[in-house]
Amino acid sequence: MKTLALAAVGGLSLTLLVATSSVADDDNHNGYKRPKRLALPSDAPLLWKEECAACHMLYVPALLPAEAWRQQMQTLEQHYGSNASLDAQQAREILDFLLRSSAANRLPVEPSATAGEPPRISQTRWFAHKHDEVSAATFQRAAVGSRANCVACHHGAERGDFDEDRVKIPR
Ligand code: HEC
Ligand code: HEC
Repeated sequence: MKTLALAAVGGLSLTLLVATSSVADDDNHNGYKRPKRLALPSDAPLLWKEECAACHMLYVPALLPAEAWRQQMQTLEQHYGSNASLDAQQAREILDFLLRSSAANRLPVEPSATAGEPPRISQTRWFAHKHDEVSAATFQRAAVGSRANCVACHHGAERGDFDEDRVKIPR
């Protein structure tokens, strides 16, 4: 009951936030809704922080819909050309966290353009829309690396801070 009440309060404050937002939410048409609340939840397990930032930056759960995370976690042995496999118990703990923390992301699962890969954040329509003013050459700068290296330009990315006022593209 307690959790339910909390969830209801959370939902309410979200609705209020959205309603009072002065920013036009132009992603919110045709059922293609932007992810809300990108901030990293405070209950993020240490296991996830360590395992999922061993090879690249930490991607906060709200960046992908739950089903996309499920696909990620089911294919860790073939993870974009790397083996990121975990034992069953660790994988379960991380998956549980990702599923509950991505509930606000209502985007459809978009397959990667590369066959056999799990979905990517950097290839969603949402990502393309947010970066329509950033050129391919900018993403390829040595100091950036790739579209997937959010933290190169969004210094607070691992906390879920993507505010455009704090974006800084490295030279
Ligand atoms: C052994 C190294 C390794 C580990 C451990 C690892 N990854 Fe990855 N991950 C990669 C590589 C390599 C890529 C592809 C990077 C690229 O193409 O720029 C990738 C890409 C990703 C992407 C897609 C980025 C995009 O383009 O949008 C996500 C999401 C992701 N990883 C999540 C995870 C999660 C969740 C975990 C923990 C369960 C994890 N990774 C652990 C190596 C790893
Ligand atoms: C080359 C630098 C660069 C990289 C890498 C990058 N971004 Fe961005 N991002 C920007 C810029 C610049 C803007 C502002 C774009 C505009 O106003 O057109 C932006 C805007 C955004 C916004 C909208 C912010 C707002 O206040 O509306 C989000 C969300 C976002 N990026 C998420 C991401 C995620 C997630 C990644 C990684 C998967 C990423 N970005 C990678 C440069 C980058």
